Amino acid sequence: MRDGRAAIGIVGCGKISQTHSRAMQEAGVLPLAYCDIDESLAKARADEFGAPGAKTFARYEEMLEMEELDVIAVTTPPFLHLDQTVRALEAGKYVYSEKPVCFHLADFQRIFEAERANGRRAFFTPSRFRAKDGRLMREYMDERRIGDVYRVDVKHLRGRGRPGIEFQPASRWFADRSKATTGISGDMGMYFMDRAFYLTDWPEVTSVSAQVYKQFPHDLPADVVYDVEEHMVFLARTDGPLTFTFEFANISHHAYHSSIVLLGMKGSLKSTIKMDGVELRTERRPNEWVVERPAFSDDTSGDTHIYRALQAVATARSDGERDEILSTLGTTSRQAYSMHRVLQMAFTSSRERREVGVSDIDEAAEIFPGL
Ligand SMILES: NC(=O)c1ccc[n+]([C@@H]2O[C@H](COP(=O)([O-])OP(=O)(O)OC[C@H]3O[C@@H](n4cnc5c(N)ncnc54)[C@H](O)[C@@H]3O)[C@@H](O)[C@H]2O)c1
Repeated sequence: MRDGRAAIGIVGCGKISQTHSRAMQEAGVLPLAYCDIDESLAKARADEFGAPGAKTFARYEEMLEMEELDVIAVTTPPFLHLDQTVRALEAGKYVYSEKPVCFHLADFQRIFEAERANGRRAFFTPSRFRAKDGRLMREYMDERRIGDVYRVDVKHLRGRGRPGIEFQPASRWFADRSKATTGISGDMGMYFMDRAFYLTDWPEVTSVSAQVYKQFPHDLPADVVYDVEEHMVFLARTDGPLTFTFEFANISHHAYHSSIVLLGMKGSLKSTIKMDGVELRTERRPNEWVVERPAFSDDTSGDTHIYRALQAVATARSDGERDEILSTLGTTSRQAYSMHRVLQMAFTSSRERREVGVSDIDEAAEIFPGL
């Protein structure tokens, strides 16, 4: 902390660290340290975005020794998230980490334990999509404008757009399961799952029926590892009538499409982000429809909301108060665990060609097995 402002260190100074750095600027927190195994990248980010006197590091453990850092932003490839998150918690820092988090559900125990032992918490970026249209839809849900929700459908289809291949080719790791942990399900899917579950108050998913695809003739150069899924579709059940369908594709040969639809007992809510915004549809009397297409009430990014909330680290009166502020804005470690568990059920269901329940999965097995 410096002058009552939250001090932040960033590990991983590639593409997304720019987005985090801009959000920090907007939120008025202090980026005091940048770390990358390629220290020239850390220096470039620090020159552009760092607070006066910001330090750079090639070794993460050295950055963690900076006592004045309150928060670590983890923006490295996914295979590093677990270890870097746990080490930051153990150094007494709050964490805001990119997703996916780890290879095994059992790995989450290390995070839960480090949170408990050190009185700090880790939050994850799937919450990014709780902002903007997500925030407006959450207001409608709180006002119970569509009544009890019984169906949620989410689609995110790209015609052809695999990170590491069609875009951002310098970051080949996106296509390599040993570094990325998984493909579209963890890269984009977790954003949409987080938003759907956040809007429906995180119901327990009891079983999943899924198909996972990796099927096109990829014809990539021999030195490119491509062993992640490009498409998955699944039905997720809860104990009650509420069911979710999710479909995420990096290759579908379909025009770009991204939508979430919630059907309730009194109305429906739809958002087609980057297409036509939010639509609230309610019935005044049978078959007489009221359709509203409001502008977003807040255009602030999800990351900026988080970094503003992290100011609470500097000013809140108690850990409980801090955690409460942060939990509404960021995906908690328990919520991240729940989403990874749903995805493990989905991968298991696809492999075994049957519906899979919570008790069918092994926490020590790979969440995202090879295809
Ligand atoms: N690129 C995007 O559009 C985007 C969007 C949202 C989220 N993300 C997520 O952000 C994370 C990073 O993605 P990116 O696109 O910035 O990747 P990137 O390849 O651009 O950057 C990763 C950086 O991490 C550094 N790094 C690797 N090992 C390290 C280590 N041990 N210690 C310190 N630094 C290390 C690399 O040198 C590189 O600069 C991923 O989890 C990704 O899913 C990316």
